[in-house]
Amino acid sequence: MRLSEVRDLIRLQPPELDPVKRVVARSHSIEDLRQAARRKLPRAVFDYVDGGADAEITMAANRSALERWVFQPQILHDVSSPDLSVELFGRRMMAPLGLSPTGYTRMMNPAGEAGVAMASAPTGLPYALSTVGSTSIEDLAATGHPRLWFQLYPFRDRGFTRSLVERAARAGYEALEVAVDTHVAGNRARDVHNGLTVPPQLRVRTVLDIGRHLAYWTAMVRSPMLSFPNVVPEPAPEGDETGGSGPWGESVVDISARFDPSVDWDDLYEFRQWWSGPLLIKGPVGPDDAVRAVEMGVDGIHLSNHGGRQLDGVVATIDLVRPVREAVGERAVILMDSGVRHGADIAVALARGADICTVGRPYLYGLAAAGPAGVRRAIDLLVEQFRRTVQLLGVASVAELRQHADQLVLERSRPEAVWQSLEEPAR
Ligand SMILES: Cc1cc2nc3c(=O)[nH]c(=O)nc-3n(C[C@H](O)[C@H](O)[C@H](O)COP(=O)(O)O)c2cc1C
Repeated sequence: MRLSEVRDLIRLQPPELDPVKRVVARSHSIEDLRQAARRKLPRAVFDYVDGGADAEITMAANRSALERWVFQPQILHDVSSPDLSVELFGRRMMAPLGLSPTGYTRMMNPAGEAGVAMASAPTGLPYALSTVGSTSIEDLAATGHPRLWFQLYPFRDRGFTRSLVERAARAGYEALEVAVDTHVAGNRARDVHNGLTVPPQLRVRTVLDIGRHLAYWTAMVRSPMLSFPNVVPEPAPEGDETGGSGPWGESVVDISARFDPSVDWDDLYEFRQWWSGPLLIKGPVGPDDAVRAVEMGVDGIHLSNHGGRQLDGVVATIDLVRPVREAVGERAVILMDSGVRHGADIAVALARGADICTVGRPYLYGLAAAGPAGVRRAIDLLVEQFRRTVQLLGVASVAELRQHADQLVLERSRPEAVWQSLEEPAR
């Protein structure tokens, strides 16, 4: 073999000099984006995104519960152009995927929520802004994203809570989702260890680590202060030292202390009166509560355990999907998040009865690793993986996946059960 033939065979790529393009080109999975984010971010910031509550039992369970499902494909079906699209709230979307609300997004990258919106807008996939987002309701709407949702944390101050809902309506948000699992803040053990608390209690180790990520800090210092523009600061009570300026922004007040732990079903009824568009509740909602919510006029149940960041030990969300679907039937849409890291997870969730999946950390890893291009990479990876899974399963559309769900997606511990049930004589 001649040298030129060897060169042709190997096709050496020139090194990519643009750091953003390099990260995108080298990221072939969400885990790759996670590792790139780990390298870019100071440890305390990475842990804030990556960590869960207490012993992180639920965070791990979200993954192991998804991995409990195995596939039994159909063979010899034409899958040359699979239709991945689904309809949600009367509008079609190109794939059953959305972006969950996440607070403090500008802490990952100065592009923040606007960067996430710009990256996801061309896909038309829904993106929810958190009440504690670091971009205002109006500024995010100004990006022109076609499907923005607003995630509401109910505050003790109901007048203020209502003003948030009205602002989202005025700004043209499509849906409102009320978080029902955050009336009390979860105990994020890694944040406590790193001193990323309110007020911050940074340890020497954390400060030294900050020095190792100068590019991150230079970008942060050059961009506007991190703030929570949707949440009007409350005057700190007399003698309270915690409300002053700090490294994370103008006012590191513990906003979660203003969330209302007394929020109840009557409040949900009130939120329904305030908001005329699609209304969802977001949390680890069981079947009975889901039915009650639907009877109250809720349009969607967003099954979520906050990615294992709230009640540690709570059920993995994939295990709620089928019971909730059986309870509410087709009267409500069902969304699922927490632990989705691959398109195959989306196929499992849909087979169990979800309409779409949403993700939190996957796009945040992308944002931290490569800004808006990293967010887009995370979306593209998940959609491509979902497409390949659907094709390899031998189905040509999401409708077909649903139709044959229980033959295609089996429980790992007893995959033979499906054939046994098929063999059972009809009673
Ligand atoms: C850094 C971070 C911040 C979050 N902030 C919020 C928030 O402000 N409001 C909310 O409803 N959920 C919030 N979540 C939860 C997400 O909406 C979503 O439920 C969760 O990330 C899904 O799990 P996954 O990260 O495994 O995809 C946050 C999650 C992360 C990782």
